[in-house]
Amino acid sequence: MNTEIFNVKNPGTEGYSRAISRGAELLRAGELVAFPTETVYGLGGNGLDGAACRKIYEAKGRPSDNPLILHVADFEGLKKIVSRVTETAEKIFAAFMPGPITVILPRSACVPDAVTGGLDTVAVRMPDQPVARDLILAAGLPVAAPSANISGRPSPTNGETVSRDLSGRIGAIMDGGSTDWGIESTIVDCTEADGADTVTILRPGAVTAEMLGEIIGTVKQAAPTSAAETESGLKRAPMAPGMKYTHYAPKSPLTLAADKETLLKEYQRRRSEGEQVGLLLFAEDYPDCEAEYKCSLGSRANLREIAAGLYDRLRYFDELPVDSLLCPIVPREGLGVAIMNRLGKASGGRMI
Ligand code: TXA
Ligand code: MG
Repeated sequence: MNTEIFNVKNPGTEGYSRAISRGAELLRAGELVAFPTETVYGLGGNGLDGAACRKIYEAKGRPSDNPLILHVADFEGLKKIVSRVTETAEKIFAAFMPGPITVILPRSACVPDAVTGGLDTVAVRMPDQPVARDLILAAGLPVAAPSANISGRPSPTNGETVSRDLSGRIGAIMDGGSTDWGIESTIVDCTEADGADTVTILRPGAVTAEMLGEIIGTVKQAAPTSAAETESGLKRAPMAPGMKYTHYAPKSPLTLAADKETLLKEYQRRRSEGEQVGLLLFAEDYPDCEAEYKCSLGSRANLREIAAGLYDRLRYFDELPVDSLLCPIVPREGLGVAIMNRLGKASGGRMI
């Protein structure tokens, strides 16, 4: 399949309008279109068309019981795909939508099983990104979109990375440059009974537990389902089905280090055993670490910068001849919770 690639970095230009119209036309025809959001790139398909959604799973190589998020441009579009808006959801809409957050609500009858994996709930998100918004509005549809990567790879944060993973497999790529946040949206289960004033965070992201706590009485954190639990067939249902799948693991095993000293000591030990080691380092530590394979995560004081570049850094080492990787941890506060969640998955929980 020939993948059409459009530059949509300049809203307001004629080229931009033409690209959006073509993308919308492809979506309405049941084809797949990758597009930027403020978090990561999404791989979009017609969210009301089961066949288009099945194409998404096929293009990504994704298990079909891992449900998709439906993206809408406004509240009118949102209300068509849910059967009920709970009180907690109303509060979240008012405070954080549009923005980097996804809410789980009871689904309406028009949502195909291919989107929800047969669940009676649906994940809805209203991106705050002009290309995403314009594309959804022009298509006139809710757009089903997982991250636009081959399953098992880190989510893409720029157009070139989408192209490397998906060129030849999808209809078009809207290249809008680098995304703002660099990690996926916060997922919040808002299906508690009205009056409960409780939500559960299924996946941490840019909208933090602290931010939710300012408007909701009780903010719970979903217990992570470990790989061991999944393998032993334990009955506790994971609340975000995606949580049970092995997530991105770099080609070379990644270990997290509690501090700079631990990281450097482990680096020296591995080097003395003849290993090639890749180092991810805070910008502050980068200049005085003499290593052949190293890259900067950004300043330890700037978690937004670290989140924005994280997936690209991990992909970078996949191209290098390293046997293993070492990366420092960040404090589990604010955006650091989401960064540590992704690093935890990428490292399979290995920490020294
Ligand atoms: O930032 C994001 O959320 C990006 C952009 C493209 O919007 N999308 C994204 O989609 O990260 P994806 O498919 O990579 O992750 C969606 C997650 C999966 O873990 C899935 O299991 C969960 O959302 N999910 C979807 N529907 C659900 C539902 N009804 N109940 C619980 N979890 C659900
Ligand atoms: Mg994903």
